[in-house]
Amino acid sequence: MKKTIEDIDVKNKRVIVRCDFNVPMQDGAITDDSRIRAALPTVKYLMEHDARVILMSHMGRPKGEPKMEFTMKPVADRLSELLGTDVVFVSSPLVVDDAVRKAADELKPGQVMLLENVRFRKEETENDPAFAKELASLAEIFVQEAFGTAHRAHASTAGIADYLPAVSGYLIEKEVKFLGDAVESPKRPFVAILGGAKVKDKIPVIRNLIGKVDTLLIGGGMAYTFFKSEGCEVGKSILDEDSVELAASLMKEAKEAGVEMLLPVDIVCADKFDNDANTKIVPYNEIPADMEGLDVGPETVKLYGEKIRKAATVVWNGPMGVFEMDNFAKGTNGIAEAMAECPGTTIIGGGDSAAAVRKAGLADKMTHISTGGGASLEFLEGKKLPGIAVIEDK
Ligand code: 3PG
Repeated sequence: MKKTIEDIDVKNKRVIVRCDFNVPMQDGAITDDSRIRAALPTVKYLMEHDARVILMSHMGRPKGEPKMEFTMKPVADRLSELLGTDVVFVSSPLVVDDAVRKAADELKPGQVMLLENVRFRKEETENDPAFAKELASLAEIFVQEAFGTAHRAHASTAGIADYLPAVSGYLIEKEVKFLGDAVESPKRPFVAILGGAKVKDKIPVIRNLIGKVDTLLIGGGMAYTFFKSEGCEVGKSILDEDSVELAASLMKEAKEAGVEMLLPVDIVCADKFDNDANTKIVPYNEIPADMEGLDVGPETVKLYGEKIRKAATVVWNGPMGVFEMDNFAKGTNGIAEAMAECPGTTIIGGGDSAAAVRKAGLADKMTHISTGGGASLEFLEGKKLPGIAVIEDK
């Protein structure tokens, strides 16, 4: 068990909290503030317990330079609205400078400030000890709350814990509980749905899950590599040529482990990669040579839906098709609907699947939507995440 904010005395202390406020932006405006909202219980707890709260995060990939299109200012404004109080924001290209130190020193118990984008300094992603120490010098306690960035060993996610006592916030606790319980002690039947384009990206997670799930449902672009491994032609569909043999061996591994591993039974094919393309629904082994598969078909949605509705635990990572185009979103939406109807524990492993569930208006029907894309995938792979490893044990 990891120590949490409830295990320490935060009264009057300066507490630095690493959040993942890497939110999607368009034309300077936040398009989805879920990651900000997800940190609120921890921030409010610290405020109510008279801590002096210093929040920090990265946004995008400014590559170690203070590029103002990646400023945290919009997040500070949104946080102020959500908390109903002004969040102090001192924008410094150095992240920490004298003005920032002064603002941190002057914080009153219950007050909150936000630092500038930690990736404005190249030392952040290098996990440079001097930068970690600079950040640590602002506070007396470090709270890890950035689940979405917990797979990165950076100065603000890992290095800082060398200089401060490190505890977890509520979000980390919740993510680890849902994802951890699902994988380590799931109620059965346990069904995992994996989509996405490349088999190679998903091998570690498929391998880890083969040892744990009852049923594995495969969809998305990687399905075509599996079809090819069974000797089927896939037309112009996306193909991970180098992974065809691997796909065959994963099918074999699943069979030997007694895991039911299903591939799509029908496919929506298109004559071009365009929402307005001419389309045709065909059995998986009859994809025309001049067409490409862009979604799973209705029979697959029915088959997968039956498995999902009967599951006691379901974990989903990766869309079933090119869901960004409405005409190829039916497979992904069908999976989201089946999950919404499943009476068991339903967990969305972040990234595109989370976006798809929100787009379908089904977010509040899920037990847990992870705030981590890459992080939740690495967690499902069974990897130890550096940002979680640094939190002290109870
Ligand atoms: C994410 O959105 O997955 C996290 O914020 C991590 O971002 P990164 O991939 O740029 O490290």
